[in-house]
Amino acid sequence: MKTILVTGGAGFIGSNFIHYLLGNYSEYKVINLDLLTYAGNLENLKDLAHHGNYLFIQGDISSSALLEAIFKANPIDYVVNFAAETHVDRSIREPEIFVRTNVLGTANLLNVARKYWVNRDDSYGGNKFIQISTDEVYGSLSAKGFFTEDTPYNPRSPYSASKAGADLLAQSFYATYGFPVVITRCGNNYGPYQFPEKLIPLMINNALQKKPLPVYGDGLQIRDWLYVEDHCAAITLVLQKGKVGTVYNIGGRNEQTNLQVVKTIINYLQKHVDPLITVDLIKHVADRKGHDRRYGIDPTKIQTELGWSAQTPFHIGIEKTIRWYLEHQEWLANVTSGEYQSYYQKIYGRLEQ
Ligand code: NAD
Ligand code: TYD
Repeated sequence: MKTILVTGGAGFIGSNFIHYLLGNYSEYKVINLDLLTYAGNLENLKDLAHHGNYLFIQGDISSSALLEAIFKANPIDYVVNFAAETHVDRSIREPEIFVRTNVLGTANLLNVARKYWVNRDDSYGGNKFIQISTDEVYGSLSAKGFFTEDTPYNPRSPYSASKAGADLLAQSFYATYGFPVVITRCGNNYGPYQFPEKLIPLMINNALQKKPLPVYGDGLQIRDWLYVEDHCAAITLVLQKGKVGTVYNIGGRNEQTNLQVVKTIINYLQKHVDPLITVDLIKHVADRKGHDRRYGIDPTKIQTELGWSAQTPFHIGIEKTIRWYLEHQEWLANVTSGEYQSYYQKIYGRLEQ
């Protein structure tokens, strides 16, 4: 049995990862450490509450006392660090919390893990720390070319700058202490349990209520979309076979403009839910400050070294995702009550006027 400390496991990708891991393997025990910020939701994991290989702890990766207690009480073999503030728009309004969690929290987690792992075995034999990073650390592409693992850092939002800071710390721990870090950098994920502040669930939620669909600027910005389950499979492979001290880009070669994505959602809902959900709901609004124009990932390394490739074509993944939201409207209603309403008013309030 191997014990994995998953941080941020009550969020979107983390909860999918825990489901994926416990659903496919019996030899892993998962300890999920999550602060339960607005983005963390135990509803995402309620089916696992009594699973024998699953334990939830509420807490902050920035607390060294808490991390020390967890490492002391449990034989942690691996860490997968998802915990982060993740929304670019929020980072533009409140950058400090991004530095606190993403940079200082990751530094703390690296430091405590090092302290406990080095005590057990000077060579860190068998331990691994996976830092879940993002393609956004590479900045913005023009129409040509792709991000490879060697593309220089050029983060352009407070969110991506804080993730780049975390990457650099993780890399410094490998260079300085030989600490067994692997960094993964993926593109935009989509799928079940994504909080509806991000493009796809926000558009599904608004369209179902026939509210305006706020497209920033011309809507021709490009993102490289990856179905979350494919991402979880890639992280699992990296955990099992990834080479320490290296980086893996994870992408599905699936670039779409934001308008293409929004229109795909509209078409599905118009056909299957309500003919009144039409492109007339699209409303072009002021562009995001410093908006990255294009992300495009070259995943050749993980394909050739670890044999991973994305299995879910976008037209299948987006239908599965929309259907999941249609079948989980109570989940959607719960996460969009409370704090979400004041957030939405702050960012999009003008749309309703
Ligand atoms: P999310 O916002 O849905 O979830 C983040 C989780 O972290 C939440 O459960 C939250 O409660 C928890 N958290 C926040 N601060 C914490 C703290 N100080 N201590 C402990 N827990 C804390 O995010 P996500 O979309 O699931 O992203 C997970 C990771 O993947 C992040 O590191 C993000 O940067 C990275 N990533 C996400 C995407 C994407 O498309 N969603 C793309 C590339 C990389
Ligand atoms: P988002 O889901 O916030 O992810 P990221 O900024 O990390 O790529 O946004 C995806 C794209 O969709 C991005 O180009 C911004 C755009 N967008 C809109 O046009 N309208 C919206 O309401 C949101 C949330 C995003």
